[in-house]
Amino acid sequence: MPEIRDATEADLPAILAILNQAIRETLAVWHTEEATLEARLSWLRERQGRGLPVLVVAEGDTILGFASYGDFRPFAGYAQTVEHSIYVDPAAQGRGLGSALLAALLERARAAGLHVMVGAIEAGNTASIALHRKAGFVEAGRLGEVGRKFGRWLDLVFMTRTV
Ligand SMILES: CC(C)(COP(=O)(O)OP(=O)(O)OC[C@H]1O[C@@H](n2cnc3c(N)ncnc32)[C@H](O)[C@@H]1OP(=O)(O)O)[C@@H](O)C(=O)NCCC(=O)NCCS
Repeated sequence: MPEIRDATEADLPAILAILNQAIRETLAVWHTEEATLEARLSWLRERQGRGLPVLVVAEGDTILGFASYGDFRPFAGYAQTVEHSIYVDPAAQGRGLGSALLAALLERARAAGLHVMVGAIEAGNTASIALHRKAGFVEAGRLGEVGRKFGRWLDLVFMTRTV
């Protein structure tokens, strides 16, 4: 059974590969340029330095997915709200790993005294919407045509849950 643990710097090449596949081939993330190892290293250090979780799901030496949360909006009044993200390698999707990562993030959020988690999801991402609904998230709002990738406008759905 895969284990969920805190990410280390040694996990970054695998995290980068999973993220860059999603950037290249999906609408899950609206970057148009691939991420670099250097930028991921800063991200990991910044998050872990602030006590924020960066989790991986691993089977032996193989990283199958990762998840994290950070500021929803970087202002004091939002300090107990976080925005999270979850990525599972396409070859390992549909095995319950996304759900397990989300449950682990919720547990960390509870332990940290947070109040609300927000997922910002492309409206056509049925897998992510179903995953969040199953975990008790509800649709809180929909922003029409706020994104653009692969030559078309994209809607963003916010899903929230009190932890
Ligand atoms: C969204 C994602 C994280 C789901 O991870 P996963 O490990 O495949 O999901 P799970 O196996 O834990 O599935 C949990 C639930 O999500 C739903 N789900 C998952 N994949 C689905 C699909 N392709 N279609 C419809 N529902 C789906 C189901 O309700 C499933 O529960 P069930 O198996 O009991 O029916 C994964 O598809 C992924 O990494 N996608 C690319 C990146 C991405 O979209 N990230 C989220 C950005 S907001």
